[in-house]
Amino acid sequence: MQNDLINDIRQRVDIVDIIGERIPLVARGKNYFCVCPFHNDSNPSMCVSREKQIYTCFSCHATGNVYTFLERYENWSFRETLKYLGDRVGISVGVGNLEKRSSKFDKFYEAYQLSVKYYQNNLVSSLGREARNYLASRKIDDAVIKEFSIGLAIHGNPLTELLMKKGYSLLELNRLGLSSDDRDIYHDRIMFPLQDMNGHTVAFSGRIYKDHNQNKYLNTKETEIFKKGQMLYHYSVAKEEARKEKCVIVMEGFMDVIRASTIGIRNTIALMGTALTTEQIMFIKRLSTNIILCLDGDAPGQEAMLKAGELFLKENIEVKVVVLPNDEDPDTFILKEGKQRFMGLIENAIYFSNYKIRALRKKVDLGSDREKALYIDKVLEEASQIDDEIRVEIILKKLAKEFDIGYNTLEIRFREKCENKTKPASLMITSSTKTHKTKYIKAVESLIYFMLTKDFVLTATKAEHLIFPEEKYRITMNEIFYYYEKYGKIEVADFYTYVMDKKEVRGVLDEVLQEEYESNVDNVLLSDLYKAIRDNSLSLEIRRLKKKIEEELDPLEQAKLGEQIRKLRIGD
Ligand code: GTP
Ligand code: MN
Repeated sequence: MQNDLINDIRQRVDIVDIIGERIPLVARGKNYFCVCPFHNDSNPSMCVSREKQIYTCFSCHATGNVYTFLERYENWSFRETLKYLGDRVGISVGVGNLEKRSSKFDKFYEAYQLSVKYYQNNLVSSLGREARNYLASRKIDDAVIKEFSIGLAIHGNPLTELLMKKGYSLLELNRLGLSSDDRDIYHDRIMFPLQDMNGHTVAFSGRIYKDHNQNKYLNTKETEIFKKGQMLYHYSVAKEEARKEKCVIVMEGFMDVIRASTIGIRNTIALMGTALTTEQIMFIKRLSTNIILCLDGDAPGQEAMLKAGELFLKENIEVKVVVLPNDEDPDTFILKEGKQRFMGLIENAIYFSNYKIRALRKKVDLGSDREKALYIDKVLEEASQIDDEIRVEIILKKLAKEFDIGYNTLEIRFREKCENKTKPASLMITSSTKTHKTKYIKAVESLIYFMLTKDFVLTATKAEHLIFPEEKYRITMNEIFYYYEKYGKIEVADFYTYVMDKKEVRGVLDEVLQEEYESNVDNVLLSDLYKAIRDNSLSLEIRRLKKKIEEELDPLEQAKLGEQIRKLRIGD
């Protein structure tokens, strides 16, 4: 693959657009900032530079260019990324050149694809009449069955037999959660395929439809390709839809997601009835920062909403909440009340803190002054967590009116609460989070940065014949000189692609790009850097000679060494 093509494509796209389409960016000065998607974070610690076409996370130290970003964010191979960006700018990368991406899991995915097809066939066959009637009774029509690839598992062990004929061993089928010994896992259940983040089917959930003595749903066990803590139903579809709608709706069960799609709402995911994990939050955050929880309206659903909202708050995200009436879930609500009413609820979702206040309010005994005071205190506590002054004012006004208390009294108490609170980590990154670097290391890093951004520094430095005791710096310098000689110019972002597989150089670059640098480089600044670098090798050399003196027994030899040290010191 030629570097020219790679650089050409890179120069035609803007990293700010590419990242901005995926994560909300905020402009600050020349740069853009966002919440880093590569570690569990809620502060905008990732900086995206339009000028340099690179990103840098000050917290987890992820850095790179548009290629490395997409590879990591989308889980794409380099070639897939190249093809995607090539398509965007109208440069044909030539599919023929693209090696077929082969994953060690391809064979597993294929087994699931075959199973999905097999189950789908059962459903339309004569064996599927009762199941089709059941689905129809739940108002799941053919279009929905197709969209969600719904199928049917029958009696016996036909799937195991089929897959063995296709060359799968029992060992593999057991590992995949498709068989148990030589028997099928699923019998007489309606089968809902579950997909991973990239849209591969990796598991099933099977629902009973005639034998009501069994568990309602049966899910595939955890396997190498199916991690329950990461599972979010419908994620791979919601990925695109949430970007379009600038919002994602989180539901409890996959029937809810399926029902919502019948009224054209597809920016939805389902938790599959398990407690929310931090890992899932990381994934949900990637879809949108505008997150709406719409869990079941019954008591467990409400409880789950309080817990989930709290977990999001810990990540500094305030979600919105929809409360469904009378123990409904989105599925039954949409069926009964229709699209317009459901949209109405979604559009009027309330902030989590208001929801919490409402939940608190329900528990107060209004006959007791003590309970009232306790409640007011808790509400003020909640309000002190809110970043938005207008919202705080609304809450205080409501409270004042409801309990007939002076607004000013409430406000004074509110301010007290705020002062007692240690403010959340500020948006600016303090230098204390960075490790201390010696003058020498700072000089080397600045020099590398300037060489990558200013041609004249590169030429000037070459003539200096500097010595670097550390191999990683020697390699980096050599790669920079080599690259420049070969391509006649150098840009940080292109150099990044070039060193992608050179671990040591990447490590150095990652460090270099964490720092801020002067924008003007002149000869005075340069000579300071050269001097700092030379001083370092000088002091290393002096230290070496001193050690030698100590070991030397012959006084004449000692004197000679002493003279060498003197000469080094006066710069002879
Ligand atoms: P329907 O009864 O078909 O409408 O399902 P629902 O969407 O109303 O499901 P419910 O609210 O009862 O549960 C929400 C989610 O929890 C489901 O989507 C399942 O993923 C999960 N769940 C429910 N019941 C079971 C069960 O018996 N076993 C397992 N493993 N999961 C279940
Ligand atoms: Mn239901």
